[in-house]
Amino acid sequence: MSYVAKRLSVVKPSASMAASQAAKALAATGIDVIDLGLGEPDFPTPAHVAQAAYKAALAGETLYTASAGTLALRKAVADKFRRENGLDYAPDAITVANGAKQIIFNALMATLDAGDEAILPAPYFVSYPEMVKLLGGTPVTPQCAAAAGFRLTPDVLEAAITPRTKWLFLNAPGNPSGAVYSADEMRALGDVLARHPQVLVLSDEIYEHIIFDGREFVSWGKACPELKDRSLIVNGVAKAYAMTGWRVGYAAGPMPLIKAMNTVQSQSCTSVAAPMQAAALAALTGPQDCVARFREAFQRRRDLVVAGVAKIPGLTLPAPEGAFYAYIGCAGLIGKRTPKGEVLADDVAVSDYLLAEGHVSSVPGSAYGLSPFFRISTATGDEVLAEAVARIARAVAALQPTEVSA
Ligand SMILES: Cc1ncc(COP(=O)(O)O)c(C=O)c1O
Repeated sequence: MSYVAKRLSVVKPSASMAASQAAKALAATGIDVIDLGLGEPDFPTPAHVAQAAYKAALAGETLYTASAGTLALRKAVADKFRRENGLDYAPDAITVANGAKQIIFNALMATLDAGDEAILPAPYFVSYPEMVKLLGGTPVTPQCAAAAGFRLTPDVLEAAITPRTKWLFLNAPGNPSGAVYSADEMRALGDVLARHPQVLVLSDEIYEHIIFDGREFVSWGKACPELKDRSLIVNGVAKAYAMTGWRVGYAAGPMPLIKAMNTVQSQSCTSVAAPMQAAALAALTGPQDCVARFREAFQRRRDLVVAGVAKIPGLTLPAPEGAFYAYIGCAGLIGKRTPKGEVLADDVAVSDYLLAEGHVSSVPGSAYGLSPFFRISTATGDEVLAEAVARIARAVAALQPTEVSA
């Protein structure tokens, strides 16, 4: 008999972690594998940020902090929201956790009752539905097609809302699609929500700074200020400052929600480690030139991948508007036969094939709720990416049509 709690039976481990582990297992057999499964910036954390953590530890910042985060960091976050997003939040309306992921977990833990629904526009970040299920909620996953720019539209939103809807999640620039919403598009969604006062909005803005072609990032909070008392603006230092392993995320929202999230945190991890908070403070208040430098590199890599994929018959990739992923349509490969005689039935098979034959790891679109696609991370060196695209092209060229696909 298993001693694992029943609530875990519906929860899957992270698909991107699984892809990465499969890549590592193949690499352990001596094969040169390019792992594009996990998405994290390949740049080192800026030195002044690392030094701030070191100095803080030596200066005795080694004790528990307030569960919501140090006042200094919450003030810096309030300044960031004002300066970069035009949002006005007091430090008390801000909470800091171990990554944006823990912020989201705290928010759901603080609000979901059994059977409450969370609308997660697909393709979605893999952790959203698993967290919702783990906490007793029900994910509702309307499809946002490539033809609609992978964006949620007002009609689709309206159709997804029920009396049990507790949350709408928005994520722009989006993982995995890179989709960005204009202020007008957000306002159109806000108009729908105005008719449904029971719905809270979680806007995951973690890729805010990774946005391309001169697009301006508009926070959900700026586009729909009238929904401030039911919007949670989520962000963090992981992606903007190459700090995924430092585990600092933050959010601003209505006081009752923030207080409830702080209660959850106080009874679980207590707080983010004090030196990590000092590092996040240095990232938000120190020189910001790294942010633009990272963005330029990500755009160059995006361009490289888009140009390469455009030359591969059977694959489609509209240029991602932000984030550091390519969500590649592979409908043209479904039904084709591999050199070993297997027929590619779905995007899981495509992703498995690309690993086995091309030695490139990717994550199948089914993990993000929208198929047939596969996601590769573009947060790696230009040469590695060029080689990965060349390998994908060779693997695709080795496929044969079947009677069905011909
Ligand atoms: C959309 C989205 N939100 C949140 C996270 C996690 O952020 P953090 O590292 O701050 O927990 C990720 C990481 O991949 C993500 O893609």
